[in-house]
Amino acid sequence: MNIVLLGPPGAGKGTQAKRLIEAYGIPQISTGDMLRAALKAGTPLGLEAKKYMDQGALVPDSVVIGLVKERIEQKDCAKGYMLDGFPRNVSQAQALDKMLGELRQNIDHVVCVEVPNDELVRRLTGRRTCRNCGAGFHEMFDPPKKAGVCDKCEGELYQRDDDNETTVTSRLKVYEDSTKPLIDYYEKQAKLRRIDGVGSMDAILARITAVLG
Ligand code: AP5
Ligand code: MG
Repeated sequence: MNIVLLGPPGAGKGTQAKRLIEAYGIPQISTGDMLRAALKAGTPLGLEAKKYMDQGALVPDSVVIGLVKERIEQKDCAKGYMLDGFPRNVSQAQALDKMLGELRQNIDHVVCVEVPNDELVRRLTGRRTCRNCGAGFHEMFDPPKKAGVCDKCEGELYQRDDDNETTVTSRLKVYEDSTKPLIDYYEKQAKLRRIDGVGSMDAILARITAVLG
């Protein structure tokens, strides 16, 4: 099963993807995580991407399309995958359709997680991530047992550079202008499944699994 997780910054795409990949046995492909990994490794691609990410802008299409193409051709994607944060605009969606056509694959479901903006800001500004294993937490909504320390591996928790209020405002605007048109794009393909993203993480997981079947 090939799934796209669509939704604004902070909607819970990463949180739900991590739970869904366990349930479905398919990998998560997060372009944001891939770009942050490239930056951590100090590659030219990562350093270039940082300029855009720090401003809350989209990284150029050619960069992310290339990353996704390379990733979905890997062996562990043979039974499907969960795209998190890609596509992000109509031209990326068209490139994905073209790439999948060549591979004789299809997107089965596009899950759009909907959350109001005031809640998104609360989620993003309180998010903490493990530097070591990538596990996600929230200062208020999902706090670690010990402040600043990952429950799973005892790694250090950090705040993402783009989770400050100024950059969050830009990211929300980019979502409205560039990503939201994908709702219409996938509605026309009869692939869109809208999910209310407010509630407990377990309740939202149950809503998503109900539509995926
Ligand atoms: P990316 O990393 O994709 O960030 P994003 O889309 O802005 O989304 P987030 O990761 O911030 O949110 P999320 O929906 O995953 O929420 P999470 O589950 O963590 O992209 C970052 C940047 O990279 C972009 O700005 C761009 O520059 C670049 N980029 C990436 N992909 C690109 C592409 N395709 N094209 C071009 N550029 C690209 O949850 C957030 C918080 O809320 C957590 O703390 C969590 O614990 C908490 N939470 C989750 N669910 C709940 C709940 N139900 N109740 C309470 N709290 C909750
Ligand atoms: Mg994410």
